Parts: sequence; structure tokens; C-alpha cells
Amino acid sequence: MNPPDSITLTRPDDWHLHLRDGPEMAAVLPDTARRFARAIVMPNLKPPVTTVAAARAYRDRILAALPQGMDFEPLMTLYLTDATPAAEMRLARESGFVHGVKLYPAGATTNSASGVTDLRKCAAALDAMQEVGLPLLLHGEVTDQAVDVFDRERVFVENTLAGLVRDYPRLKLVLEHITTREAAEFVAAAGPQVAATITAHHLLMNRNALFQGGVRPHHYCLPILKRELHREALVRAATSGSTKFFLGTDSAPHARHTKETDCGCAGMYTANAGIELYAEVFDQAAALDRLEGFASLHGPAFYGLPRNTGTITLKRIPMAVPGEIPYGAHTLVPLRAGGTVAWSLV
Ligand code: DOR
Ligand code: ZN
Repeated sequence: MNPPDSITLTRPDDWHLHLRDGPEMAAVLPDTARRFARAIVMPNLKPPVTTVAAARAYRDRILAALPQGMDFEPLMTLYLTDATPAAEMRLARESGFVHGVKLYPAGATTNSASGVTDLRKCAAALDAMQEVGLPLLLHGEVTDQAVDVFDRERVFVENTLAGLVRDYPRLKLVLEHITTREAAEFVAAAGPQVAATITAHHLLMNRNALFQGGVRPHHYCLPILKRELHREALVRAATSGSTKFFLGTDSAPHARHTKETDCGCAGMYTANAGIELYAEVFDQAAALDRLEGFASLHGPAFYGLPRNTGTITLKRIPMAVPGEIPYGAHTLVPLRAGGTVAWSLV
């Protein structure tokens, strides 16, 4: 049977997204809202979104920036710190608009300086989250600079995640943007309270892409791209049909000059092709029939939210990717800039 040239899905959601704030947010938001009904919005602003009040204000700014006629619901998150009180977790659950709490190990990535230095300091908050059913979203990398950057996720899974799952057996956990075979295997083997998101870029590229013809700052993100064997394991997990794996783009916009510099920022911008890139992956794996589960069904089931009611249609028509995209006072360079993606949204 020939693979289909057109596919219609329940409208998808993005379970891991960076929207930033102000004019930059206004510049990128329509790319996501055109494709996704909802997105889990990361709280790593400056200053970070650590309270329900701050999340409410951020949510209001996002909704105010949404162009007329676009239908999109931001699912807000809080940024966990060593000092997050348990009471804030209960407020978060009661708010109805906070859907998760993000753990950045302090120093692991962009704007993570206020993150967690020692999980034991968060015991009361984690207990409360477990009790009220608020998911913990993990940036799963150790920060020990003695650990090789390519091993930081694997070591986190072994040294931190395993203990967290043991100590909080009913806590809902999402291991965000997994990049290794070990992470995929851990999640697949864990109970139903443990899930993972996978980005399109980690499904499409291995670490060779960092050095394709020269150093490639627009392919630098955290967790960093890994070896081909890991990419293959991620594709198997994403296309397996397992409800533990779902779509999270981790689209992370940065102005061009902050990436093309001697100490460039981590993050790839993919929101402009946020579903189309995944269609490429699932098509290449002859698994287009599993895209809807991954993109539209497994996430809401895990988060206890209703499925979206609308649909989108993708066609096997190449989409041109611009060389750069306006980004507030600057521009950003999307993934595949100047190239094409094999599928288009119609
Ligand atoms: O590449 C990344 N960019 N990884 C992260 O964890 C953070 C993100 C960002 O905020 O730019
Ligand atoms: Zn992220």
C-alpha cells in the first residue's frame, strides 16, 4: 500500500513550549496557535514564573497577544525553586489554569539559575503535588560539570529519576524532551504515572548535525543532540503507539545574534513547522497512522484534559522554511532555514 499523501488528525497540542514574553512572544505565538489547540508553556522567564499570581498575569499577556479569531489555550506551569511552598501547589491545582510544575536543576539550561539545588528541599512541595495530582515536569539532566554533556540525561535517569519515582510513587512525572535510549527505556518500563515528551528535532537529527560542514549554532539545544542509536530509540518510542510518549516541540526561540556568537544560547525554533516536522518523522517510519495518538491523544489522557474537538489536515506538499523570522526587534533562524519540510498544513 502506498503511504497516504494527506492525513487528518484531531487537532494536536504541544506539551512543551517556550513562548517568552513581550514583543518576542507576540511574534512567535501565531505559529503555535495556527497548529496547536493548547500548549504547556514553560515558566523560565526572567524573572521565572514561580507563583500562581505570576502565571495568571503571564496567561493574560499571552491571551492578549493572540491575534483575533485564533483559538488557543495556554496551559500554564510554575517554576519550582528550593523555596516553593506546598500551599502554592494547592493553589496551582485549584486555579484550573496551572497544569504542571517545572523542575530545572539549578544551572542546567537557559534561565535555570533559580532552579532546584537539592531535591530534598522540595519535599513538602512534591508531597503536595502528589496529593493534588499536579504533574512534575523534569528537565532531566544532572548539572555536575564533571559529567560529560552527552551523558547528563542518562546519569539523571540513573541517579535522580529512579529515586524520585521510588520516593513519590503516585507523583505524575513527565520527563521532558528525552534524548537517549536509556530515558526512553526507563519511561516505557515505569508505571502509568511516568511519561515523556519528545521533540521533532531529536527525532530528526543526531549529533552530527552540530558539525555539518562547520559548527552549527542553530542545532545547539539542551539536552544536546545524541548519537544515532539514541535517535533511533526515540523514533521507536514515539511511533510505538505507547500512551507514555507524546508531542512536545520544545520550540525555544532566541534572537539570531544570541545564537551566532562565541557563547551561543541553547534552543531550536520549530514552532513554524511544529506538526509538519513530526509528520516527516512518522512518514519516514511508515507510522503515519500513529501520529494522531502521539500528537493529539496521549497528552490529554495523561494530563486528565479533554481531547480537542477540531481537526487539522496535513498534505505531502513541500513547505518552504524562511531563512529568518521576525522576532521583536530582531530576527530568529528557524530549524531548516531556507530549506523545506516535506509536509504542509492545509
Ligand atoms: O535548548 C533549550 N532551550 N533547552 C532548554 O532546556 C531551555 C530552552 C530555552 O529556554 O531556550
Ligand atoms: Zn524546554
